[in-house]
Amino acid sequence: MTSSPYFAPVNNSISTFKDNIFEGKVLFCTGGGSGICKGMTESIMRHGANAVIIGRKLDRLTEASSELSERTGRTCIPIQADVRQPQTLQAAAERTMEYFGRIDFVICGAAGNFMSPISGLSANAFKTVIEIDTLGTYNTVKATIPHVRATKGAYVHVSATLHYRGAPYQVHVSAAKAGVDAISNVVAVEEGPHGVRSNVLAPGFTSGTEGMRVMSGNKINKAEGFSNPLGRFTEIHDVANAAVFLFSPAACYITGQVIPVDGGAEHLRGNFFPYPSSVIDPSNVRKLLKGKM
Ligand SMILES: NC(=O)c1ccc[n+]([C@@H]2O[C@H](COP(=O)([O-])OP(=O)(O)OC[C@H]3O[C@@H](n4cnc5c(N)ncnc54)[C@H](OP(=O)(O)O)[C@@H]3O)[C@@H](O)[C@H]2O)c1
Repeated sequence: MTSSPYFAPVNNSISTFKDNIFEGKVLFCTGGGSGICKGMTESIMRHGANAVIIGRKLDRLTEASSELSERTGRTCIPIQADVRQPQTLQAAAERTMEYFGRIDFVICGAAGNFMSPISGLSANAFKTVIEIDTLGTYNTVKATIPHVRATKGAYVHVSATLHYRGAPYQVHVSAAKAGVDAISNVVAVEEGPHGVRSNVLAPGFTSGTEGMRVMSGNKINKAEGFSNPLGRFTEIHDVANAAVFLFSPAACYITGQVIPVDGGAEHLRGNFFPYPSSVIDPSNVRKLLKGKM
């Protein structure tokens, strides 16, 4: 965290809303075993909900669900599923219904990311990210929509701000997240008349995540510094707060929106990498990149 004069204090998301606003509700969260989605799940559980977290690695999910249940006093169950496979998500939704009898809130957060220039990115690598982020979001919506309709619930999809412009080395994620935003808008329009809301949260670079750990080894990042209007990187709490708000009755008239949680960074339109030098000669960012150059 920086010590900028513009530093915005972190507001732990249990401190704003009443503890029990989600009493009796059930959250279904893909990607909930780690990072931002685990943080969102914890905050929603602290407000009274029970939860199901979805991912591929059962060990990590089991550990995360015990931790979440212990920390919040609510019930969290781990379900192993691959968001690329619709039948595994259908089975996860059915198990959730058997266990809890309802699904009120869905977070579509499972994602894959790495950095690579187009020249080093295979069609297969591009396809994999589209399959996890975009198709995975679609599959999650398909598997849960009848249940979310029944509770007049809501979706929060986790996107990014990369695709608002051309972010180098992120063509796969940019395309995938543009698709996620589009899916959410259609869900909002098709499902609004059934009482279902759908919104997108777009985190900025978020402290304490795998993505940030890769970035913090980047000497260019350190040399260039990072600034945004609120003077620090996104914290998981910031995204969790926004999710609590979007699922709460306070957001009952908000749907079809994309909300960046990036401290206003988007408006500075800065480049994460020095431009165009990092594109002309990528050698100084080589260790961040996966594909061949
Ligand atoms: N970190 C950032 O700075 C940042 C910035 C902007 C947007 N975001 C977005 O925020 C969300 C969370 O990111 P994070 O950094 O917290 O990432 P993370 O900790 O790597 O979380 C990604 C999660 O997705 C799950 N996942 C991946 N592939 C899956 C698959 N095929 N099926 C089911 N689950 C799968 C992973 O679990 P398994 O490996 O067990 O499957 C993992 O729990 C993502 O949507 C990401 O794009 C992050």
